Amino acid sequence: MQKTNSAASYGIETICVHKGVAKDSTFNSVTTPIYPSTTFAFEGPCRTKGYDYSRTANPTRTALEECLGALEGGVRTSAVATGMAAETTVMHLFEAGSHIITGHDIYGGTYRLFANVFAGHGLTFSFVNMGDVGNVAAAITPQTRAVWVETPSNPLLNLVDIAAVAEIAHRHGLLVIVDNTFMSPYFQRPLDLGADIVVHSTTKYLNGHSDVVGGAIISKTAEIGERIAALTNALGTCCSPFDAWLVLRGVKTLPCRMRQHERNAQALAEFLAGRAEVEHVYYPGFKSHPHHELARRQMSGFGGMLSFDIRGGAAAAFDFIKHLKIFAFAESLGGVESLIEHPETMSHASMSPQARMEAGISPGTIRVSPGIESTPDLLDDMAGAFGALANPLKDSG
Ligand SMILES: Cc1ncc(COP(=O)(O)O)c(C=O)c1O
Repeated sequence: MQKTNSAASYGIETICVHKGVAKDSTFNSVTTPIYPSTTFAFEGPCRTKGYDYSRTANPTRTALEECLGALEGGVRTSAVATGMAAETTVMHLFEAGSHIITGHDIYGGTYRLFANVFAGHGLTFSFVNMGDVGNVAAAITPQTRAVWVETPSNPLLNLVDIAAVAEIAHRHGLLVIVDNTFMSPYFQRPLDLGADIVVHSTTKYLNGHSDVVGGAIISKTAEIGERIAALTNALGTCCSPFDAWLVLRGVKTLPCRMRQHERNAQALAEFLAGRAEVEHVYYPGFKSHPHHELARRQMSGFGGMLSFDIRGGAAAAFDFIKHLKIFAFAESLGGVESLIEHPETMSHASMSPQARMEAGISPGTIRVSPGIESTPDLLDDMAGAFGALANPLKDSG
């Protein structure tokens, strides 16, 4: 159900392949060269060819920034070392005493950064159920400076209404920051919905090949973009030209990959929903998903991720995972190869048991990131793993 990307003059497939490329006037190479140089010679006093030092700016990084900025519809982008580097950089916009509102079911690393690092630097946080935007409005105080949205959330795929949050936040002069890692700009464009800043872990779908960690910050206005670029330079959170090149290469196939990720996610979600061993499937493409209507409105597809609760808790989860042959038992998501993980002990281990419980993550929760392999092969792999379970869970109710 991909819609035309109306905000851009070219279709998203064309932007992915061409934007930021064709910079080599020396040999006319078709792909962007890697410029590993740390420094660039001045042509004379205060005269450069646009670059002086690679922490500040680098031509390979600029190519990636132009591409990602066009995909998200932003005016300025900073490509950084990891998704957490993107988050760390953005959080430096706020002084001690600032209050930030965010979701109660965000990525565990984001929770850790806020609760364990920035809280120690004098910032305060409210972790609320953002499924109800009334909770966001109720949490605003005179010290609130921003609302940090992750939608769909990791790992339970709850959605937040970005436009509704932006409307409330902007009435109070607050910034709206959206982590768009799970959807990628192929399925969701938060800046069009009112967000001021988009952050990405490019480690995931944007690069898509599980061979580089990276991040990006895309700003809606030149003023915000300039502050972010200054922070990236001051903090040194930029990514290397080699990593920028890998992500730029990965992005070229984003649309084809996202379509296959989505096909596989939908097929697996339907398969899992029909299994007696499965207590609940979390997938926004289901009509029964609590935010299905919002998903149809806010996203142009349902994405490539799903989670489910297996009956029998952690023991059953590990037994099931152990019998899979194609899925790798691994952290991360969004790569071409299928990955499966156990949030309680892996991606969300840094949350307290209480916070995990409030977020709805149980010992039996399993997160699935289907790759782009053949759909029947993935379905057979899961059917085989259910068949090999030590306990016949389907009889345990
Ligand atoms: C939604 C989300 N945001 C941010 C991050 C952090 O990204 P990175 O691992 O590239 O630092 C992750 C990592 O899993 C994530 O899932």
